[in-house]
Amino acid sequence: MNILTIMGTAHKGNTRAVVDLFLNEFKDNENEFEEIILPNDFQNFCMGCANCILKGEDKCPHYNDVNKIVGKIERADLIIIATPVFVGSCTSGLKALLDHLAYMWLVHRPKESMFNKVGLIITSAGGSGVKQTVKLLKSNLFYWGVPKVYNYGVTTMKMGGNYSDYKNKDKIKKQVGKKAKQIKKALILRKVGLKTRFFFKLFGMTQKNGWNKVDVDYWKKKGWLDGKKPY
Ligand SMILES: Cc1cc2nc3c(=O)[nH]c(=O)nc-3n(C[C@H](O)[C@H](O)[C@H](O)COP(=O)(O)O)c2cc1C
Repeated sequence: MNILTIMGTAHKGNTRAVVDLFLNEFKDNENEFEEIILPNDFQNFCMGCANCILKGEDKCPHYNDVNKIVGKIERADLIIIATPVFVGSCTSGLKALLDHLAYMWLVHRPKESMFNKVGLIITSAGGSGVKQTVKLLKSNLFYWGVPKVYNYGVTTMKMGGNYSDYKNKDKIKKQVGKKAKQIKKALILRKVGLKTRFFFKLFGMTQKNGWNKVDVDYWKKKGWLDGKKPY
């Protein structure tokens, strides 16, 4: 199994510590691990040209960099997206990457492989802003087509240090173990739920009279407008 972690921060602090706890749960000879550390591994901001959506993803000025990352995302069985909460949201490094992936949302040109993955959002925050950060990241994974997304967050009530100094570190470890078990089960089942099916159908209907030729051609080529499904 391939496990990809997209780290919204290069800082080795709270977020890194929780990610490592999860990765430990998946250590096994059969699992491969990949990481994208932001902003080190991707340093572009979306220019707003919308070429990716309107002309094709290969027309993005940052196509080569984006495509390498998309290749890693496509290979993953489990996608972990981890970020500290910065001013009520994910880090700017992570947001900059997500902006480049708008073209592969369900409403445009979703990748077939996404419907067979499981997602995990990991957040760490001083005290507030977790809810909206998780919502933002969950919706990205959902609209890429990932049908099952888990989340886990820690609230540190302090800056600096890491979980090894926390009073509640045993509780965190226990919770991580429990969540990892649920994720392992989901990776065996890999079920596509009603919500994903509903949105796939809805966006298929909009493609039938679609306004964006690149999207319509993509859906036609996949056979999705003739009843074929990516799951
Ligand atoms: C620039 C900046 C902005 C932050 N904004 C928030 C925030 O809006 N809400 C919050 O609860 N904590 C906020 N924090 C605290 C961090 O989310 C928290 O300390 C987190 O655990 C840091 O993760 P790290 O140790 O992995 O870097 C902020 C920290 C920084 C550096």
